[in-house]
Amino acid sequence: MSLFHRLKVASVRPETRDAVVVTFDVPPEQREAYRYEAGQHLTLRADIDGEEVRRSYSICSATQDETLRVAIKRIDDGLFSRWAFEHLKPGFALDVMAPAGHFNVPLAPDARRHHVAFAAGSGITPILSLIKTTLKAEPLSRFTLVYGNRASSSVIFKDELADLKDRYMGRFNIVFILSREHQDVDLFNGRIDAAKCDALLKAWVKPEDIDVAYICGPQVMMEQVRDRLVANGVPKTGIKLELFGAALNGAARRPRTVAIKGEAGCEVTVIHDGRSQRFSVRKNGPSLLDAALGQGIELPYACKGGVCGTCRCKRVQGDVDLDNQFALEDYELARGFILSCQSFPVSDTLTLDFDQET
Ligand SMILES: Cc1cc2nc3c(=O)[nH]c(=O)nc-3n(C[C@H](O)[C@H](O)[C@H](O)COP(=O)(O)OP(=O)(O)OC[C@H]3O[C@@H](n4cnc5c(N)ncnc54)[C@H](O)[C@@H]3O)c2cc1C
Ligand code: FES
Repeated sequence: MSLFHRLKVASVRPETRDAVVVTFDVPPEQREAYRYEAGQHLTLRADIDGEEVRRSYSICSATQDETLRVAIKRIDDGLFSRWAFEHLKPGFALDVMAPAGHFNVPLAPDARRHHVAFAAGSGITPILSLIKTTLKAEPLSRFTLVYGNRASSSVIFKDELADLKDRYMGRFNIVFILSREHQDVDLFNGRIDAAKCDALLKAWVKPEDIDVAYICGPQVMMEQVRDRLVANGVPKTGIKLELFGAALNGAARRPRTVAIKGEAGCEVTVIHDGRSQRFSVRKNGPSLLDAALGQGIELPYACKGGVCGTCRCKRVQGDVDLDNQFALEDYELARGFILSCQSFPVSDTLTLDFDQET
């Protein structure tokens, strides 16, 4: 079964000068396949000048909306985002993979929690879905958003956030941090970095009141916020991260850290979509994802750089050396999940299961 379905673009709405909101038309027979959780993303695929290009875009609609919508920010020299700005129009049919990702927590209607999100730029996209979905699904919970941008003109979803603030008065709060536009409250000027995070945790959001924290934006900002939250007493298990950063595809492989057991190749069994397929791969050769794709086995992937998590699978048997990884949390690593695009076999046999979610 193909991983992609062709979905028609229902609408393309400019959100800021550099961002568009794209809504897909999901036919009734595909609704189940495109049912999603807040915080998940879609992999979009296009042929650009004869090259297959895949990129991940987070869903910004709420799960209760029955709408499938993403926001794409144009990057100056960006291949896919610039192509999308030129080509995506109502009626255009685009290859879209089913929703994936784990940037969320289970929601419960009787939960009384304080969810706090730190977003910068287009990092607001999955956060908007989390805000809308959570405020509807957990009527007793609160949500605070700390949202960093250059200026108010570049704030994606400014109007929608203002509407949410009115609708959920007392339950939804926003702090805009602007780096190139002066605001009266000094705390709100500048960037979201370690010092700003400390200041906000002192004056605005009590760390002991934070039950769940979501962080989405550039890598440096995410790491600084996570470290300051942990230093201020927020448990690491309550912090969820989603990196949008540039994929590291093509980055140099670091020397292998796990001892190679024996000289022989590795016999790999891949379980995907209920099917089991086998192939041999050289140790210290291509990644497991590339080796499987080279055998004609269709597996999910997007960035090939350890960022998007689309190629996540469970190591059921055997050992791998995992290279760059920015997508898995500690508990997933402990349960045996790996990123196949960044994993290299080190045992003589290996079984990978792409069907296991937990
Ligand atoms: C899980 C996940 C969810 C994502 N969700 C969204 C989303 O909702 N909306 C969205 O607009 N993007 C999102 N992204 C980023 C998106 O997948 C692309 O990386 C981005 O659109 C750039 O692709 P491109 O082909 O235009 O640029 P490329 O041709 O890949 O890169 C061009 C240049 O831009 C730099 N660059 C690449 N990505 C970024 C970035 N995100 N910010 C700044 N510079 C960058 C590169 O280093 C390079 O110099 C997400 C990424 C991931 C992994
Ligand atoms: S394909 Fe993106 S992490 Fe492997």
